[in-house]
Amino acid sequence: MDKLIIEGGVRLDGEIRISGAKNSALPILAAGLLVDEPLIVGNLPHLHDITTMIELLGVMGVEVVIDEKLNVEINSATIKSYNAPYELVKTMRASILVLGPMLSHFGEANVSLPGGCAIGSRPVDLHIRGLEAMGADVVVEDGYIKAKTNGRLKGARVFFDTVSVTGTENILMAATLAEGETVLENAAREPEVVDLAECLIAMGAKISGHGTDTITVQGVEKLHGASYSVLPDRIETGTYLVAAAATGGRVRVKDTCPEVLEAVLVKLRETGAEVTTGDDWIELDMKGKRPKAVSVHTAPYPAFPTDMQAQFLAMNAVAEGTATVTETIFENRFMHVHEMMRMGANVSLEGNTAIVTGVEGLKGAPVMATDLRASASLVIAGLVAEGDTTIERIYHIDRGYECIEEKLQLLGAKIRRVPA
Ligand code: UD1
Repeated sequence: MDKLIIEGGVRLDGEIRISGAKNSALPILAAGLLVDEPLIVGNLPHLHDITTMIELLGVMGVEVVIDEKLNVEINSATIKSYNAPYELVKTMRASILVLGPMLSHFGEANVSLPGGCAIGSRPVDLHIRGLEAMGADVVVEDGYIKAKTNGRLKGARVFFDTVSVTGTENILMAATLAEGETVLENAAREPEVVDLAECLIAMGAKISGHGTDTITVQGVEKLHGASYSVLPDRIETGTYLVAAAATGGRVRVKDTCPEVLEAVLVKLRETGAEVTTGDDWIELDMKGKRPKAVSVHTAPYPAFPTDMQAQFLAMNAVAEGTATVTETIFENRFMHVHEMMRMGANVSLEGNTAIVTGVEGLKGAPVMATDLRASASLVIAGLVAEGDTTIERIYHIDRGYECIEEKLQLLGAKIRRVPA
């Protein structure tokens, strides 16, 4: 397995381009299952999770063509099987996103129960209950969710008792082809949900209220092909900004979307960093200073994202002062803490809160990536640590960060990949 080796202590300085958002791209690719005409998706990031989704569509017989501009054209008119097999689904939880569109369009979907990051139990009951409310017949047996519908799904009121991003996306996609009106209540407001809704609208769906907690969908009989470009990745953006802040450096991120990062930018300004924004860029300058520790509390959008928690924890580990990092979305999302403590971080865990007291410096050490965002936090820790940090199991990073070592090298970091 590949490893990353980071020689820490370099202040990041430079400019990089942000890739398309993984968490938008995945549901948008799945939305290709709703039509018999091509859906062309642009600004796709080159990531393992994207390849997995493309492979998953491919094994079901969906035609996937990549053009010279790296746009992906999906044509589900060729579908042969309604089975999303365990071998692919186990590697990526977001595979569950094929359930709603496949069921709604073809009347049948069998999707293996998902795997993905080991960050808590992460059930899929909300997805199943939502589809049942729309008249689907769903059984879970032999490790598979087996869903069927007699005729079209029926519009319904679907209430989510927990805000779920992919749950909202699955029901939203299913509702576009249902008979009548579906109202999603306590829906996720994440920008990726809005992006998916905009893509569905471009395909002929009738949706309103996306971006609020109540989304209304008037089902239509048929959608049509479209061409859509996914929004920039806010978590990738935030990760590079935090990396610059932690190293006392400066970074300008281009081709991004500052307005969807408000909660993160507020916290970065609290560290003492100078943060300026334009239409599609953000610049952070720490001016060589040590950041001040900042407390964060994760919650659904527009609050502070759980996917940025680990990176802020890494920055707090070398910041001035003590801060708390509270995780309210997932249980067991502090696996990076133990690895960082091996590098000299001063962190204590109390339930779902990590209390972090910044130390003058971390020391490089061999560490293990445990999930996607945890691995990003170890990269940040490695960048600020004295000496070499070797990160193993970096396939987690490759699931969500496009060319991470190339982008960091552009910012001056001493980081290299050692192939297995
Ligand atoms: C998505 C993101 C992930 C992010 C997370 C929270 C994608 C592909 N992934 O994951 O990067 O960390 O949102 O912002 O977009 N839950 C249930 N039952 C369900 C579904 C969820 O109880 O049926 C719970 C989960 O256990 C968790 C909470 O709801 O505690 C939120 O999870 P959810 O928003 O569904 O996360 P994902 O959509 O899987």
